[in-house]
Amino acid sequence: MKWNADLYDQKHAFVAQYGESVLELLDVKPGEYILDLGCGTGDLTQQIQNKGAKVKGTDLSPDMIAQAKEKYPEVDFAVENAADFFTDDKYDAVFSNAALHWVHDQNGALRSVYNSLKHGGRFVAEMGGKDNMARLIEATRLVLQNHGYQQQADAKIWYFPSVAEYATKLEEHGFRVTFMAHFDRKTPLQDGDQGVAKWVTVFGAQYLEGIPDDEKQQILAEITQRLAPHYNEGGQWYADYKRLRFVAIKE
Ligand code: BEZ
Repeated sequence: MKWNADLYDQKHAFVAQYGESVLELLDVKPGEYILDLGCGTGDLTQQIQNKGAKVKGTDLSPDMIAQAKEKYPEVDFAVENAADFFTDDKYDAVFSNAALHWVHDQNGALRSVYNSLKHGGRFVAEMGGKDNMARLIEATRLVLQNHGYQQQADAKIWYFPSVAEYATKLEEHGFRVTFMAHFDRKTPLQDGDQGVAKWVTVFGAQYLEGIPDDEKQQILAEITQRLAPHYNEGGQWYADYKRLRFVAIKE
């Protein structure tokens, strides 16, 4: 996925804002060495550093990392693949907010996280959980199918696991899960009636690949129309986010 870091920062600041409550769960101690995995444009990475930790922020997107470095030149950032990374200098904690659901190779990610932690180190994260954005995904698939775009409708862009599925995966990789929760987070969308179209364009670009521009606009309008009864509350649009949040310890 090619990210537009500017658009991400302008339209989706809420990603980092909600992440602040995951930071509380991370409970940073001064002097700890912490990895922010999938750091985007670095807002939470900088907050971790401000709490007195030594931090490294990594992301697969060179555009995101370039923007992060520009915003926070005093923070260490690097382009790295969450599914395949290695460090000699082990972390006290690995933190991740709203990034893991983009990783297709989950076994690679959990292996890399486990190997990068000190013994007793913690993995504290939040990601999309089972049925995250279920209404939007269902509406998008249906409209794409109606327009004859079966391949786009079948695109598997994200991984949104259940508690049972992800706890099992973490245990299989050697972690002890000390906390896990799956909860609703009704999330306001910006840009009013254009909010759904903007969201799909920024985050679900793969659904729209290869579709001519005018038909794309028509498809986005139809998705919006289908979602209106569920998402539009008196002009403010809300998305049906569901989060999976956990703490897992390397034993
Ligand atoms: C999420 O944070 O749940 C999310 C964000 C963008 C795309 C998919 C999911």
